[in-house]
Amino acid sequence: MGVTANSFNSVSLDPPMVLWSLARSSRSLAAFTHSQHFSVHILAQDQDALSNQFARSGADKFAGLTLECGAGGVPLLTGCAARLQCRTAFQYEGGDHIIFVGEVVAMDRSDAPPLVFQAGRYAVATAKTAVQAFSAEAQDDDASFSENFTGYLLARAHFQFYSQLRTHLQQHALSDTEYFVLSVLLVREGRSIGNFNERFSYTGHQVTMQLIARLEVKGLLRTVGPAGQQLCHLTEQGRAVTLRIIAAAKALEADMLARLGEWDAVALKNLLKQFILHTDPGLAHPWSE
Ligand SMILES: Cc1cc2nc3c(=O)[nH]c(=O)nc-3n(C[C@H](O)[C@H](O)[C@H](O)COP(=O)(O)O)c2cc1C
Repeated sequence: MGVTANSFNSVSLDPPMVLWSLARSSRSLAAFTHSQHFSVHILAQDQDALSNQFARSGADKFAGLTLECGAGGVPLLTGCAARLQCRTAFQYEGGDHIIFVGEVVAMDRSDAPPLVFQAGRYAVATAKTAVQAFSAEAQDDDASFSENFTGYLLARAHFQFYSQLRTHLQQHALSDTEYFVLSVLLVREGRSIGNFNERFSYTGHQVTMQLIARLEVKGLLRTVGPAGQQLCHLTEQGRAVTLRIIAAAKALEADMLARLGEWDAVALKNLLKQFILHTDPGLAHPWSE
Protein backbone atom coordinates (compact mmCIF):
# COMPACT_ATOMS: atom_id res chain seq x y z
CA MET A 1 0.00 0.00 0.00
CA GLY A 2 1.20 3.53 -0.64
CA VAL A 3 -0.14 7.07 -0.83
CA THR A 4 1.13 10.44 -1.95
CA ALA A 5 1.43 12.64 1.13
CA ASN A 6 2.71 16.14 1.74
CA SER A 7 1.78 16.14 5.42
CA PHE A 8 5.30 14.81 6.11
CA ASN A 9 7.49 16.61 8.62
CA SER A 10 10.52 16.07 10.79
CA VAL A 11 9.87 15.68 14.53
CA SER A 12 12.90 14.62 16.56
CA LEU A 13 16.64 14.53 15.91
CA ASP A 14 17.57 12.18 18.76
CA PRO A 15 16.16 9.65 18.17
CA PRO A 16 15.45 10.59 14.53
CA MET A 17 11.68 10.73 14.11
CA VAL A 18 9.30 11.93 11.41
CA LEU A 19 5.53 12.24 11.07
CA TRP A 20 2.86 12.25 8.42
CA SER A 21 -0.93 12.03 8.49
CA LEU A 22 -3.41 9.94 6.55
CA ALA A 23 -7.11 10.64 5.95
CA ARG A 24 -9.44 8.28 7.80
CA SER A 25 -11.27 7.87 4.50
CA SER A 26 -8.15 6.43 2.81
CA ARG A 27 -8.45 2.86 1.60
CA SER A 28 -4.93 2.28 2.88
CA LEU A 29 -5.74 3.29 6.46
CA ALA A 30 -6.02 -0.22 7.93
CA ALA A 31 -2.74 -1.30 6.29
CA PHE A 32 -0.86 1.62 7.85
CA THR A 33 -2.49 1.43 11.30
CA HIS A 34 -1.69 -2.30 11.53
CA SER A 35 1.80 -2.16 10.05
CA GLN A 36 4.85 -1.86 12.27
CA HIS A 37 6.86 -0.18 9.54
CA PHE A 38 6.47 2.38 6.76
CA SER A 39 8.85 4.12 4.41
CA VAL A 40 8.84 7.73 3.26
CA HIS A 41 10.08 8.63 -0.24
CA ILE A 42 11.05 12.21 -0.98
CA LEU A 43 10.32 12.19 -4.71
CA ALA A 44 12.77 13.63 -7.23
CA GLN A 45 11.75 16.54 -9.46
CA ASP A 46 11.10 14.24 -12.45
CA GLN A 47 8.77 11.91 -10.49
CA ASP A 48 5.51 13.89 -10.74
CA ALA A 49 3.86 11.05 -12.68
CA LEU A 50 4.71 8.71 -9.79
CA SER A 51 3.20 11.21 -7.36
CA ASN A 52 -0.04 11.23 -9.39
CA GLN A 53 -0.01 7.43 -9.54
CA PHE A 54 0.06 7.17 -5.74
CA ALA A 55 -2.56 9.92 -5.34
CA ARG A 56 -5.16 7.77 -7.14
CA SER A 57 -7.23 5.73 -4.70
CA GLY A 58 -7.48 1.95 -5.05
CA ALA A 59 -5.73 0.34 -8.05
CA ASP A 60 -2.38 -1.44 -7.69
CA LYS A 61 -0.15 1.58 -7.43
CA PHE A 62 3.04 -0.51 -7.48
CA ALA A 63 2.27 -2.22 -10.80
CA GLY A 64 5.23 -2.08 -13.15
CA LEU A 65 7.57 -0.34 -10.69
CA THR A 66 11.07 -1.47 -9.78
CA LEU A 67 11.01 -2.22 -6.06
CA GLU A 68 13.53 -2.92 -3.35
CA CYS A 69 12.79 -4.40 0.07
CA GLY A 70 13.17 -2.24 3.18
CA ALA A 71 12.89 -2.71 6.95
CA GLY A 72 9.92 -4.89 7.92
CA GLY A 73 9.45 -6.00 4.30
CA VAL A 74 8.19 -2.54 3.28
CA PRO A 75 8.59 -1.85 -0.47
CA LEU A 76 11.08 0.84 -1.49
CA LEU A 77 10.83 2.83 -4.74
CA THR A 78 13.90 3.82 -6.76
CA GLY A 79 15.10 7.08 -8.31
CA CYS A 80 14.01 9.23 -5.35
CA ALA A 81 15.77 12.23 -3.77
CA ALA A 82 15.72 10.49 -0.37
CA ARG A 83 14.20 7.49 1.38
CA LEU A 84 13.48 7.03 5.08
CA GLN A 85 12.71 3.58 6.48
CA CYS A 86 10.70 3.89 9.66
CA ARG A 87 9.39 1.83 12.56
CA THR A 88 5.88 3.02 13.47
CA ALA A 89 6.41 4.49 16.96
CA PHE A 90 3.12 6.32 17.71
CA GLN A 91 -0.29 6.94 16.18
CA TYR A 92 -2.40 9.96 17.18
CA GLU A 93 -5.96 11.13 16.53
CA GLY A 94 -5.86 14.17 14.26
CA GLY A 95 -9.44 15.11 13.43
CA ASP A 96 -10.34 13.37 10.17
CA HIS A 97 -6.70 12.15 9.87
CA ILE A 98 -4.49 9.75 11.82
CA ILE A 99 -1.00 11.05 12.57
CA PHE A 100 1.80 8.50 12.25
CA VAL A 101 5.10 9.11 14.02
CA GLY A 102 7.94 6.87 12.91
CA GLU A 103 11.47 6.31 14.17
CA VAL A 104 13.89 6.38 11.25
CA VAL A 105 15.87 3.14 11.24
CA ALA A 106 17.64 3.66 7.89
CA MET A 107 17.92 6.33 5.23
CA ASP A 108 19.60 7.01 1.94
CA ARG A 109 19.65 9.97 -0.41
CA SER A 110 20.76 11.00 -3.88
CA ASP A 111 21.73 14.37 -5.38
CA ALA A 112 18.48 14.51 -7.37
CA PRO A 113 16.58 17.77 -6.76
CA PRO A 114 13.28 17.09 -4.95
CA LEU A 115 9.80 17.49 -6.36
CA VAL A 116 7.87 20.34 -4.72
CA PHE A 117 4.08 20.69 -4.41
CA GLN A 118 3.11 24.29 -3.83
CA ALA A 119 -0.12 26.24 -4.29
CA GLY A 120 -1.78 23.23 -5.90
CA ARG A 121 0.90 22.49 -8.50
CA TYR A 122 4.20 20.73 -8.89
CA ALA A 123 7.28 22.92 -8.75
CA VAL A 124 11.06 22.68 -8.47
CA ALA A 125 13.06 24.06 -5.56
CA THR A 126 15.65 26.76 -6.12
CA ALA A 127 18.12 28.24 -3.67
CA LYS A 128 17.22 31.70 -2.37
CA THR A 129 20.64 33.29 -2.37
CA ALA A 130 21.37 36.95 -1.83
CA VAL A 131 22.40 37.98 -5.33
CA GLN A 132 24.79 40.93 -5.14
CA ALA A 133 23.55 43.93 -7.09
CA PHE A 134 25.57 44.30 -10.30
CA SER A 135 25.97 47.99 -9.61
CA ALA A 136 24.48 50.78 -7.47
CA GLU A 137 22.10 51.53 -10.32
CA ALA A 138 20.46 48.14 -9.89
CA GLN A 139 19.10 49.25 -6.52
CA ASP A 140 17.22 52.24 -7.97
CA ASP A 141 13.60 51.92 -8.94
CA ASP A 142 14.62 53.21 -12.38
CA ALA A 143 16.66 50.04 -12.74
CA SER A 144 13.49 48.17 -13.65
CA PHE A 145 14.35 49.17 -17.22
CA SER A 146 18.06 48.50 -17.15
CA GLU A 147 19.75 46.00 -14.90
CA ASN A 148 16.53 44.45 -13.72
CA PHE A 149 14.87 44.32 -17.14
CA THR A 150 14.29 40.70 -18.16
CA GLY A 151 15.50 41.38 -21.71
CA TYR A 152 18.75 42.80 -20.35
CA LEU A 153 19.28 39.82 -18.02
CA LEU A 154 18.61 37.27 -20.77
CA ALA A 155 20.87 39.06 -23.24
CA ARG A 156 23.68 39.56 -20.75
CA ALA A 157 23.53 35.90 -19.67
CA HIS A 158 23.64 34.88 -23.36
CA PHE A 159 26.54 37.16 -24.31
CA GLN A 160 28.60 36.31 -21.22
CA PHE A 161 28.16 32.60 -21.85
CA TYR A 162 29.01 32.92 -25.55
CA SER A 163 31.97 35.22 -25.01
CA GLN A 164 33.71 32.23 -23.38
CA LEU A 165 32.93 30.05 -26.36
CA ARG A 166 34.20 32.71 -28.77
CA THR A 167 37.83 31.97 -27.82
CA HIS A 168 37.28 28.47 -29.21
CA LEU A 169 35.73 29.88 -32.40
CA GLN A 170 38.73 32.18 -32.85
CA GLN A 171 41.10 29.21 -32.70
CA HIS A 172 39.35 27.94 -35.84
CA ALA A 173 38.99 31.46 -37.34
CA LEU A 174 35.19 31.14 -37.29
CA SER A 175 32.64 33.92 -36.87
CA ASP A 176 29.51 33.43 -34.74
CA THR A 177 27.35 32.96 -37.82
CA GLU A 178 29.79 30.50 -39.43
CA TYR A 179 29.76 28.39 -36.26
CA PHE A 180 25.97 28.68 -36.17
CA VAL A 181 25.72 27.25 -39.72
CA LEU A 182 28.10 24.38 -38.91
CA SER A 183 26.33 23.45 -35.68
CA VAL A 184 22.90 23.47 -37.35
CA LEU A 185 24.25 21.21 -40.12
CA LEU A 186 25.62 18.81 -37.51
CA VAL A 187 22.02 18.21 -36.35
CA ARG A 188 20.64 17.90 -39.88
CA GLU A 189 22.54 18.13 -43.14
CA GLY A 190 21.30 19.18 -46.55
CA ARG A 191 19.87 22.61 -45.77
CA SER A 192 19.61 25.35 -48.37
CA ILE A 193 20.50 28.98 -47.64
CA GLY A 194 16.77 29.76 -47.81
CA ASN A 195 16.03 27.07 -45.25
CA PHE A 196 18.62 28.55 -42.83
CA ASN A 197 17.19 32.03 -43.13
CA GLU A 198 13.59 30.88 -42.89
CA ARG A 199 14.03 28.51 -39.92
CA PHE A 200 16.47 30.54 -37.89
CA SER A 201 15.58 34.15 -38.59
CA TYR A 202 14.79 34.60 -34.88
CA THR A 203 18.50 34.19 -34.07
CA GLY A 204 19.39 37.35 -36.01
CA HIS A 205 21.95 35.39 -38.07
CA GLN A 206 21.91 36.18 -41.80
CA VAL A 207 23.27 33.32 -43.91
CA THR A 208 24.60 34.59 -47.26
CA MET A 209 26.13 32.97 -50.37
CA GLN A 210 29.45 34.64 -49.46
CA LEU A 211 29.41 33.08 -45.99
CA ILE A 212 28.75 29.61 -47.43
CA ALA A 213 31.53 30.15 -50.00
CA ARG A 214 33.97 31.12 -47.22
CA LEU A 215 33.19 27.89 -45.32
CA GLU A 216 33.73 25.94 -48.56
CA VAL A 217 37.14 27.58 -49.06
CA LYS A 218 38.05 26.65 -45.47
CA GLY A 219 37.22 23.04 -46.34
CA LEU A 220 34.50 22.79 -43.68
CA LEU A 221 31.46 22.63 -45.93
CA ARG A 222 30.52 21.48 -49.44
CA THR A 223 27.44 22.27 -51.48
CA VAL A 224 25.62 19.94 -53.87
CA GLY A 225 22.94 20.63 -56.45
CA PRO A 226 22.37 23.23 -59.17
CA ALA A 227 23.20 26.91 -58.63
CA GLY A 228 20.51 28.67 -56.63
CA GLN A 229 19.23 25.45 -55.08
CA GLN A 230 22.40 24.18 -53.47
CA LEU A 231 22.19 22.13 -50.31
CA CYS A 232 24.90 22.40 -47.66
CA HIS A 233 26.74 19.43 -46.18
CA LEU A 234 29.60 19.22 -43.69
CA THR A 235 32.93 17.87 -44.89
CA GLU A 236 34.71 15.39 -42.66
CA GLN A 237 36.93 18.21 -41.44
CA GLY A 238 33.87 20.43 -40.86
CA ARG A 239 32.26 17.72 -38.77
CA ALA A 240 35.42 17.20 -36.69
CA VAL A 241 35.87 20.95 -36.04
CA THR A 242 32.19 21.41 -35.11
CA LEU A 243 32.25 18.44 -32.75
CA ARG A 244 35.34 19.85 -31.05
CA ILE A 245 33.70 23.25 -30.50
CA ILE A 246 30.47 21.65 -29.29
CA ALA A 247 32.48 19.57 -26.80
CA ALA A 248 34.01 22.84 -25.54
CA ALA A 249 30.52 24.40 -25.30
CA LYS A 250 29.28 21.44 -23.28
CA ALA A 251 32.29 21.66 -20.97
CA LEU A 252 31.57 25.38 -20.42
CA GLU A 253 27.93 24.58 -19.70
CA ALA A 254 28.86 21.79 -17.27
CA ASP A 255 31.23 24.14 -15.47
CA MET A 256 28.60 26.87 -15.22
CA LEU A 257 25.85 24.48 -14.07
CA ALA A 258 28.17 22.94 -11.47
CA ARG A 259 28.68 26.40 -10.01
CA LEU A 260 24.91 26.92 -9.89
CA GLY A 261 24.32 23.52 -8.28
CA GLU A 262 21.97 20.84 -9.52
CA TRP A 263 18.78 22.32 -8.01
CA ASP A 264 19.29 25.75 -9.57
CA ALA A 265 20.42 24.21 -12.87
CA VAL A 266 17.08 22.36 -13.09
CA ALA A 267 15.14 25.46 -12.02
CA LEU A 268 16.98 27.68 -14.55
CA LYS A 269 16.30 25.37 -17.49
CA ASN A 270 12.68 24.94 -16.39
CA LEU A 271 12.12 28.72 -16.27
CA LEU A 272 13.89 29.33 -19.58
CA LYS A 273 11.72 26.68 -21.28
CA GLN A 274 8.60 28.36 -19.86
CA PHE A 275 9.86 31.77 -21.01
CA ILE A 276 10.50 30.41 -24.53
CA LEU A 277 6.99 28.90 -24.66
CA HIS A 278 5.37 32.13 -23.48
CA THR A 279 7.29 34.35 -25.92
CA ASP A 280 7.03 32.04 -28.98
CA PRO A 281 5.45 34.06 -31.80
CA GLY A 282 4.63 30.76 -33.58
CA LEU A 283 8.01 29.87 -35.06
CA ALA A 284 8.29 26.80 -37.25
CA HIS A 285 10.11 24.21 -35.20
CA PRO A 286 13.74 24.54 -36.33
CA TRP A 287 14.53 20.83 -36.28
CA SER A 288 11.38 19.46 -37.91
CA GLU A 289 10.45 19.80 -41.54
C1 LIG B 1 0.53 16.36 -3.53
C2 LIG B 1 -0.46 15.51 -2.75
C3 LIG B 1 -0.35 15.42 -1.39
C4 LIG B 1 -1.23 14.64 -0.65
N1 LIG B 1 -1.09 14.55 0.71
C5 LIG B 1 -1.89 13.76 1.42
C6 LIG B 1 -1.70 13.60 2.83
O1 LIG B 1 -0.78 14.15 3.42
N2 LIG B 1 -2.55 12.78 3.50
C7 LIG B 1 -3.57 12.13 2.89
O2 LIG B 1 -4.32 11.41 3.56
N3 LIG B 1 -3.78 12.25 1.55
C8 LIG B 1 -2.95 13.05 0.79
N4 LIG B 1 -3.12 13.15 -0.56
C9 LIG B 1 -4.20 12.41 -1.19
C10 LIG B 1 -3.88 10.91 -1.27
O3 LIG B 1 -2.67 10.71 -1.97
C11 LIG B 1 -5.01 10.20 -2.01
O4 LIG B 1 -6.21 10.42 -1.31
C12 LIG B 1 -4.74 8.74 -2.18
O5 LIG B 1 -5.39 8.36 -3.36
C13 LIG B 1 -5.30 7.86 -1.11
O6 LIG B 1 -5.14 6.53 -1.57
P1 LIG B 1 -5.94 5.29 -1.00
O7 LIG B 1 -7.38 5.68 -0.83
O8 LIG B 1 -5.71 4.20 -2.01
O9 LIG B 1 -5.33 4.97 0.34
C14 LIG B 1 -2.26 13.93 -1.30
C15 LIG B 1 -2.37 14.01 -2.69
C16 LIG B 1 -1.47 14.80 -3.43
C17 LIG B 1 -1.58 14.87 -4.92
